[in-house]
Amino acid sequence: MREVKTLGLLGTGVIGGGWAARALHFGIDVVAADLKPEMERWIRGAVENAERALSRLTFAPLPPKGTLSFTTDLNAMAGQVDFIQENIPEQLELKQRVLAEVSHHARPDVVIASSTSGLMPTDLQRDMEAPDRFLVAHPFNPVYLLPLVELVGGQQTSAAALDAASRFYTRIGMHPLRVRREIPGHLTDRLQEALWREILHLVNDGVATTGELDESIVYGPGLRWAAMGTNLIYHLAGGETGMRHMLRQFGPCLKWPWTKLEAPELTEELIDRMVEGTQAQSAGRSIREIERLRDDYLVAIQQVLKQFNIGAGATLRALEARLYEENAKAAREQVSAGGLWLMETHVRPEWVDYNGHMTDSRYLQVFGDATDALWRSVGVDDAYRASGRALYTVETHVTHSAEAKPLEPLYVLTRVLDVDDKRVHVFNALNRTRDDALVATGEQMYLHVDTRAGKATSMDPAVREKLAGIRASQSGLAPPKQAGRHIAMSRS
Ligand SMILES: NC(=O)c1ccc[n+]([C@@H]2O[C@H](COP(=O)([O-])OP(=O)(O)OC[C@H]3O[C@@H](n4cnc5c(N)ncnc54)[C@H](O)[C@@H]3O)[C@@H](O)[C@H]2O)c1
Repeated sequence: MREVKTLGLLGTGVIGGGWAARALHFGIDVVAADLKPEMERWIRGAVENAERALSRLTFAPLPPKGTLSFTTDLNAMAGQVDFIQENIPEQLELKQRVLAEVSHHARPDVVIASSTSGLMPTDLQRDMEAPDRFLVAHPFNPVYLLPLVELVGGQQTSAAALDAASRFYTRIGMHPLRVRREIPGHLTDRLQEALWREILHLVNDGVATTGELDESIVYGPGLRWAAMGTNLIYHLAGGETGMRHMLRQFGPCLKWPWTKLEAPELTEELIDRMVEGTQAQSAGRSIREIERLRDDYLVAIQQVLKQFNIGAGATLRALEARLYEENAKAAREQVSAGGLWLMETHVRPEWVDYNGHMTDSRYLQVFGDATDALWRSVGVDDAYRASGRALYTVETHVTHSAEAKPLEPLYVLTRVLDVDDKRVHVFNALNRTRDDALVATGEQMYLHVDTRAGKATSMDPAVREKLAGIRASQSGLAPPKQAGRHIAMSRS
């Protein structure tokens, strides 16, 4: 299967827009195709809107953003992309027809995936050319913030297509969940529907309002669900003996039974109750406003879960580890070729202050990322840190000399000014790519520490040797004039 540089989207509504935002953010070009030309404006707006929260998900160094193009020619899109994600309306015959048509125009090693919420892959791939490269990849709204994607193969789907899809979705920060066997509704929507059906019954029977039912989740089980699913939570409910005791204690209740299996009739009265209930919950806020609130807390929750390396936080942590490693890989190539160019970046919109420039704290972030790449390139990586050793910053001096405006491409040149057993003196110069103007410099002293004892200690001789090698290779350069300076007002 092909390496994915360009993603093709078939249908650019709510879900297509979410895929576009996620892929572009992680450096994949997107060709979006929809029958309606007016969807171009819509998808560009959707991407911009998504970027507001997505840009705060991780501060790890990202590859350059992908570019977005739009077409109403579905077949032309299919002929030029490396992976196709279908997101047209949930109608079996429509999807079958469009997937079959597009499959004749896509190269045979292009994976084609459907976002279908519940249709079966065997039915969808029926009339396709090379149906073995087809699978269902069911995402969740907002696709740009929720990492889950359910992968389901049909009778003709190859293991190679599932593996390639899994790699691609992981690369754009997702958690692919392989569904063992195709069933209508896959896994998650089955669970969601069971809850939804009970909600409809309880509203229909006048037992509770939509707001009260939402309260019954968000103040309780919802908080647990973000990191542990129902099964692990119930295991805890059984005390020391876990699930076995829990089933003995509460299992008999299943016979009573509390819940209903058939959905209620969707009468006009029930629809009115649901609509009035959710309108009251919205309290005059627009859909956009509530979406922004949802996006903000989804980012915050994932960042908190990252500290516990659990659920979506574990996905985020793995993504960041990879992004830092990719940054370091480029740095290793530079270092081994005798270069200093350790990092490329651009001024992300959220880094800009009220003066319209990159704000102070982001300079430290960029210098930190460049130094992180230097450390990893000489062997101070996750494994080294896990062994209880690290390099800690003990002093920093930043100078500023030119402006960096939003989206401005930048690069960092890194020098090792000095190194001994326990200390490394690093100098980073941040430059504008368009004119090589020096934007800022960051001079930092690092101390090698035993992190468990909390004391300075000698670094691994191999690390020191590599750093000394870099320093020696840079010894012909003139000393940077900003190095060794202190802040003072000159008096004449
Ligand atoms: N909305 C959700 O929460 C959600 C979540 C997961 C999966 N899905 C699935 O994603 C798919 C799309 O759902 P959505 O909510 O984005 O729908 P949507 O109505 O917002 O978007 C569908 C888009 O497809 C376009 N379209 C229609 N026919 C087309 C054709 N023949 N060729 C190209 N484009 C065509 C429409 O113009 C529209 O822009 C569905 O299969 C749905 O089950 C939806």
